Formats: sequence, C-alpha cells, structure tokens
Amino acid sequence: MKQILLTGDRPSGKLHLGHYVGSLQNRVKMQSEYDSFIMIADVQALTDNFENPELVKRCVHEVACDYLAVGIDPNIATIYIQSQIPEIAELTIFFMNLVTLSRLERNPTVKAELAQKGMTDSIPVGFLCYPISQAADIAAFGAEIIPVGEDQLPMIEQTNEIVRRFNRIYNTDILKECQAHIGVNGRLPGIDGRNKASKSLGNAIFLSDEPAVVKEKVMSMYTDPSHIHVSDKGRVEGNVVFTYLDIFHADEEEVFDLKLRYQNGGMGDVLLKDILFKDLNALLGPIRERRAALSPEQIRDVLADGTRRARAKAVEMMEAVRDAMSIDYK
Ligand code: TRP
Repeated sequence: MKQILLTGDRPSGKLHLGHYVGSLQNRVKMQSEYDSFIMIADVQALTDNFENPELVKRCVHEVACDYLAVGIDPNIATIYIQSQIPEIAELTIFFMNLVTLSRLERNPTVKAELAQKGMTDSIPVGFLCYPISQAADIAAFGAEIIPVGEDQLPMIEQTNEIVRRFNRIYNTDILKECQAHIGVNGRLPGIDGRNKASKSLGNAIFLSDEPAVVKEKVMSMYTDPSHIHVSDKGRVEGNVVFTYLDIFHADEEEVFDLKLRYQNGGMGDVLLKDILFKDLNALLGPIRERRAALSPEQIRDVLADGTRRARAKAVEMMEAVRDAMSIDYK
C-alpha cells in the first residue's frame, strides 16, 4: 500500500509563484508515488475571512483551477473541500483537549500571522486554534507525507505532538506521525524584496497573471537600489531578479555569467528583467492555457468526486478514533 500524502491551501486568493516553488511543483512530482490527498482548506480560510464567505467560495473554485492548471491530475490525486468533511471538525474538537493555550500562543507561524494582521490584542479563538484543526486535517487521513512551504514546519511539529499525545493517552497507535516535504527552492521572496511572496503583501506573481501583468511586475522588481547607470557595479545578493533567475532560469552557467557581468558593471536591469520575464512566461504559458480550457462544470465534478472519496477515508478513520476513545454507545 502506498503511503498517504496530504496537503492543502487556504482559498483566500489565487495561487502564486511562491506556492508553485514551495509546494505545488513538489505535489505534481510526487502525486503518483503516493496516495495523494489535496485539500482546499476553506474552514481554515474562514478563520481570518469569516466576514467574507463569498470570497472564500470564489477562491475554492480558483484554487481548484490552479491545481488542475499546474498539472495535479484529479484521476490520480484526490482534490476535495475541507468543510464538506464533518469528520475533520469532529476530530478537531477531540484534539482541543490535548493542547494548551500557551502552546498555541507559542506557535511561530500563528505568532507571525497575528503580528502581520495586527490581531495581537483581540485574537479570535477560531484563528488561534487553526493549528489544531490542521492537525486533524492530517490525522483524519492517516497522512505521513506533507509537501508544504517552509513556513508550515511549526504546524507539522504541533501535529506530531498532538498525535503522540493522543496515541499515549488512548493507548493506541492508530494515528500516524507525519513529515514535511519542503520544495527544493524553499521560500520565494516577493517582487519588492521582502522575504516572502504573499497575496496579502501584494508582492506576488499569480499563476493566472496575464503576460502584460507579469511583465509589469518583473519590471518593478527590487534589484540593487544603488545600481543606477548601466556602467555601475551591481549587487547580486538581495537582488530579487537574481534570486528568481537562480530558481527559474534553466541554464545555471548562464546565470553565473550574468551575475559576473552585473557585478563588474555594464549590465542593465532591463536586460536582466527581460530574460527573467521570458523564463516566467515559458513556465506560466502552458499553465495559463490549461486553465483557460477548464469549464466550471468540470471543476464542480472534480470537487464532488474528490470530496466523496476523501470523506469515505475520513469516516473510516473516525470510527477507529471513537473506538479508541470509548465513544461507542451501540
Ligand atoms: N496552513 C496551510 C497554508 O496556509 C494550508 C493547510 C490547511 C494545510 N490544512 C493543511 C497544509 C494540511 C498541509 C496539510 O498553506
């Protein structure tokens, strides 16, 4: 039997190159090696978008389109909607007993998000608890392999703590510990040079961006602010165009040469950005085409079928969980 791979995204925006490099690319590569479950985490998206349910609903569709467009194959991987699996919510409630408030407050991912959203003074309980629900997302499927971005490592650690605690307290081994699989390129910086590309920071290139938009974003990328004239010597470190070329330009030696020329003076930013734009367009072109060929009916069918398959799996696990917890009144 294949090991279970599980991962997901919050549908609060379209997916971007950061998602692609951090996790999507990995999922496509790994999808047939494992029994793959890809969750559109709408319940988690609602923890910080509860006032915008329509946005979340729209994005469920967008994210599903992004998945198919990058090459996740719904005949191989199970793509499903988190809210349609009530067993995850049930497991979340049981897991809540196993986690302390201070442990949640110490979770580095949660802390960073609270700071970024300015929620440090009044924290909604639902938001603070999302690591518990994410642990349930994973445990309800017996998943062991979790392809995620680097920022999710604290979530995996907390999941494993909960799993160990559950198994110890209820004297069982039904829940499995899991392992994060981080994309080889790690974290993609934003086009503004900040250390993370993100929708909320407005510094990401979306997989569905039209060529003109990609061009505009590339041309506005942060380079070396003291590189003013073409003849100036330029810095490569912290220069976003080079960070992207390192990841997206296939010919490593050429990037090495470009760096030398830039550092020695005599290489303009526009020329460099043009090379990167061509690379990104070559990557995004086929993704854009596959996206354009998708119909709303096709997406609806993929999600309905995936959700049905996923639910069957979670139902089975929850029977074992209730059994371990002596919740059976037959
Ligand atoms: N927290 C993840 C993110 O923001 C999304 C997610 C929800 C997830 N449930 C998951 C990832 C389970 C991996 C496994 O990107």
